[in-house]
Amino acid sequence: MAIKALRGMNDIFSPEIHVWQLVEDHARKLFALYGYEEVRTPVLEELNLFVRSIGETTSIVEKEMYSFVDRKGKALALRPEGTASIVRAYIQNERAQSDPVARYYNIGPMYRYERPQQGRYRQFHQIGAEVFGIANPRIDAEMIHMVDQFFQGLGIDDLEIELNSLGCPICRPGFTKKFSEYLDSHQSSLCEDCHRRTQKNPLRALDCKQETCMTLMKEAPSIQDDLCDECEGHFDTVLTHLGHLGSSFSVNHKIVRGLDYYLRTTFEFTTSQLGTQNAVAGGGRYDGLVRLLGGPNVPGIGFAVGMERLIELILLKQKITPSVLAPTVYGIAMGDAAHELMIQVAQSLRRSHIFVEIDYEGQSLKAMMRRADRRQTPWVVIMGDEEVNKGIFILRNMGTKEQKEIPMGEVQQLPQRIKT
Ligand code: HAM
Repeated sequence: MAIKALRGMNDIFSPEIHVWQLVEDHARKLFALYGYEEVRTPVLEELNLFVRSIGETTSIVEKEMYSFVDRKGKALALRPEGTASIVRAYIQNERAQSDPVARYYNIGPMYRYERPQQGRYRQFHQIGAEVFGIANPRIDAEMIHMVDQFFQGLGIDDLEIELNSLGCPICRPGFTKKFSEYLDSHQSSLCEDCHRRTQKNPLRALDCKQETCMTLMKEAPSIQDDLCDECEGHFDTVLTHLGHLGSSFSVNHKIVRGLDYYLRTTFEFTTSQLGTQNAVAGGGRYDGLVRLLGGPNVPGIGFAVGMERLIELILLKQKITPSVLAPTVYGIAMGDAAHELMIQVAQSLRRSHIFVEIDYEGQSLKAMMRRADRRQTPWVVIMGDEEVNKGIFILRNMGTKEQKEIPMGEVQQLPQRIKT
């Protein structure tokens, strides 16, 4: 039986691949305007990196890791997200020593053993970015605005931006205690998952999607009331600055995110058009993480966009139509001598950055013309023995069906001819 790809892992072909490339290109260009440089880290890391950073009791670490033991008995994992690896790389390569301020972006596959469904895959791709060394809340706003610009530039202009502050190690424990007590007093109405969470990770109950829990959360204590003065001031500046930058947003105190490293600002970009998997991007501040992983005390903030979800949205909204890349010139040669000359014509055109495809398989002129038609090429160059003998080739305009005989000696002018 033929071997198939693993469940929840997709192949990406043309024409969709062109949308992927366009999105990646757009990200690279936009992020460069804000000073971000690309970083590429391995997809495989020590398991412990993710356990320590994302948190032992998170769903990702508890249930979704692709982890295994290598031949030497070392526990490894495929990265479920990019931040932990980039922090590790930042520390290991001593990037903070000369200047702790650094901006990175990364694009690549991530792995989570989740139950596959629309918008949720086991191998998925993220475009993410991280900033190190800036504690000023204005960078939070700048980053959120950049993500907003990223989506707007792709024609996606109706995402909801939701923001929250998760407090800090000074004020959050007080809120967690109060919130846990609230959960304890409503144990009987909690779903099974939240029941478990009350022991290990109570705040996750805040964004539970079960009906009864959602009702219960309406009356739950809000982190807003427990933020310390510093966290409150930080959050206020983020909101004010984001407003000045021109992004529309709302505050949602139920955003907790699924990773433990966050503190203060957290945010999500959501859509109502993709069903339950509605988060297209998420991120936040993680000031203690660099130190937690053995580095200096450098603050950090970042985000990641889910590429599959974004591309589904783009295709759904038909903002970009995936199109097959058509050759500008299709070369049809009959006979060895014609093929030799066709290669020269093609090389000359390619030197002028013109996309040329030569037909090597066609059995007859008719069959090759049919293929040229299918490839949606605007121009065809035809050459057979007769043309070779006359020292010419035929240039056919596929739109007007007009054909011209061009002397071989004029091949240098061909780029101008087909551009006009
Ligand atoms: P995250 O919210 O876990 O954050 O993932 C970011 C985005 O990745 C989600 O909003 C979603 O679009 C996409 N995503 C997550 N899981 C899947 C899946 N199974 N299938 C398809 N798409 C998925 C992070 O990963 C953080 N590292 C973001 C960050 C960077 N925070 C600070 N820096």
